[in-house]
Amino acid sequence: MKKVKTRNLIDIKDLSKEDIDNLIKVANDIIKHREKYSHKCDGKILATLFFEPSTRTRLSFESAMLRLGGKVLGFSESSSSSTAKGETLADTIRVVSGYSDIIAMRHPKEGAPVVAANNSLVPIINAGDGGHNHPTQTLTDLLTISREKKRLDNLTIGLCGDLKFGRTIHSLITAMSRYDNIKFILISPDELKIPDYIKTEVLEKNKIEYIETDNIEDYMDQLDILYMTRVQKERFFNEADYQRLKDYYILDNYKLSKAKKDLCILHPLPRVNEISTEVDEDSRAKYFEQAYNGVYIRMALILSLLEVE
Ligand code: CP
Repeated sequence: MKKVKTRNLIDIKDLSKEDIDNLIKVANDIIKHREKYSHKCDGKILATLFFEPSTRTRLSFESAMLRLGGKVLGFSESSSSSTAKGETLADTIRVVSGYSDIIAMRHPKEGAPVVAANNSLVPIINAGDGGHNHPTQTLTDLLTISREKKRLDNLTIGLCGDLKFGRTIHSLITAMSRYDNIKFILISPDELKIPDYIKTEVLEKNKIEYIETDNIEDYMDQLDILYMTRVQKERFFNEADYQRLKDYYILDNYKLSKAKKDLCILHPLPRVNEISTEVDEDSRAKYFEQAYNGVYIRMALILSLLEVE
């Protein structure tokens, strides 16, 4: 397994395009030949430190390590760790990095993974930091897009919902901006528009075409990918604002009637109301495949960061 050039994965920018292509290649090989990888991490331990709730990211990391023959330890809420007694993140990481070979951490504070990496004896993987980044979700998204569309360039991508707080959106735009002929349709209510720094530092800097709109139906027929997102309740300061915006977009069969026959519908999940369950039966709905793919790309990432042959 070719090692990625970074020791930690904090931001998707830590990976080159070549690193990403290689991880996707290995993930595809794991999908085809799972048994070949089942002892690659014998004797290795993954720690999953989740200071925020998770189903997919934590369990797919744990499944990935178990499927590689390794073992897992960790906690799924900070209240069951000594953080509740006032221990600092730096001290927690110093200790747990002596108990494990690699750490996947989710934290509500943006920048916490950098603090962790500076205090760790072993590689740190950012499993989501506040409204900032979620690089392993992006690797999952890229694997899914490449499997479904057989390419990562020449795509019109609709991103719909909470583009302000949706960390998966920020990482995905950053990653896709490196590929050729990508166009983004940014669909959100005014209050949940993409942050300015993503527009100036990623989209405009890389001369990526984009349109901002609040109307999903106007652009439906142009999309190759439609990436729906949940309105991030946990990032709102005001419950009334959340209630007003939470059901702004609900994707249903009627809205999909003008979409391309080979549209690929993605969602990082969990879903609340933003995709009607009737859409689950549509062959273009790929969000559950996307969640399954998360295990294989995380297996590839663990192998690479641990420099396993
Ligand atoms: N996609 C994602 O990050 O899901 P979880 O919050 O369940 O980990």
